[in-house]
Amino acid sequence: MIAVVLVGGEGTRLRPLTLDEPKPVLPIGGVPFMSLLLDRLAAAGVTRVILSCGYLPDRLRAGIGTPPPGLEVEVVVEDEPLGTAGAIRFAAAGRVDGPFLALNGDVLGDADFGALVAAHRAAGAVASIGLTPVDDPTRFGVVVHDEQGIVERFVEKPPNADGLGPAPWWVNAGAYVLEPSVLDMIPGDCMVSIEREVFPQLVGNGLICVRSEGYWRDIGTLESFLTANADAVAGRVHTRLQGSEEAVLIDPSATVSEEAVLVGPVLIAADAVVGARAALGPDVVIGPGATVAPDATIRGSVLLAGAQVAAHATVERSAIGRNALVGERASVSGSALGTDHAAGAGEALVGERRPG
Ligand code: GDD
Ligand code: MG
Repeated sequence: MIAVVLVGGEGTRLRPLTLDEPKPVLPIGGVPFMSLLLDRLAAAGVTRVILSCGYLPDRLRAGIGTPPPGLEVEVVVEDEPLGTAGAIRFAAAGRVDGPFLALNGDVLGDADFGALVAAHRAAGAVASIGLTPVDDPTRFGVVVHDEQGIVERFVEKPPNADGLGPAPWWVNAGAYVLEPSVLDMIPGDCMVSIEREVFPQLVGNGLICVRSEGYWRDIGTLESFLTANADAVAGRVHTRLQGSEEAVLIDPSATVSEEAVLVGPVLIAADAVVGARAALGPDVVIGPGATVAPDATIRGSVLLAGAQVAAHATVERSAIGRNALVGERASVSGSALGTDHAAGAGEALVGERRPG
């Protein structure tokens, strides 16, 4: 089985973290997100992955690391964004000769891709969409369907829930199985959206869907990126980290003061340093080589590689970018600092993006 993974987006909602690092290689539980996705694809029996990208392709290549054994990864680069359908066509045309998986490259989940493929084959479908239940349909593609899983309507980002039935709403989870014939419906060399232009045309013409209740999260906003990190460490989603609700996972090469107070789930990656009386957790990831000075407090936050939090500083519900600095007694809440940026000593940041 071949999988095309869409990773061309600029990750605008995750800026400034995505200004110099594409969303798919940002760390979840200290591991590039794409590595976790490749684990899942290999486990589902996928042997070849085509990454369809356009934004920062070199950083993407560098960030993926070594794929799992038996999985071949090819990076295909668009000159200009072609939209979700255009990108699938560009990546898959000439490379597939049977049904293939197509995935949004920003979803952390548990759903069984093999089950989606099996349902697609059993139904003799043209296209099959994996679904997940949500409470707010306006940020997703809502899939109205009957009891057999036949799709009746596909509504991308409806302005409200009017006419869409009661909660929870079943939405496009960003995982499809497509027959190669779908590629013929997509015009070449222009922007085409699979959600707005292709799926509506396929309604009544072989479009089915499969529900899944497992863990599912789009990591595309600051809040969901932080939650996904916490969930991975807490073991709420099945990954190679094998975390648990109280997990305090410390890499053997990290240096953690005996006087630090750690409340799981917490992960401290390779070569990180945590000083005396620092209070970490719950829901904290300290990235590789990051340092937390004595008496600092960190909750619900992620420090990327080499970030530094100085003494008596407080960081809450925030992401601190690579080699970024939170100065002494600074307080950072609901904010994100980009690579090499700083919150000055004593400064208070609330809901800020720097650079914004
Ligand atoms: N190669 C390429 N080219 N990839 C693209 C392009 C493009 O022009 N545009 C978007 N992508 C990639 C993004 O990188 C991301 O992995 C995926 O396609 C989806 O784009 P998002 O921008 O993240 O879309 P969304 O999250 O607002 O909505 C999509 O995902 C929801 C589930 O998370 C839609 O598919 C919704 O229907 C769905 O419910
Ligand atoms: Mg998304």
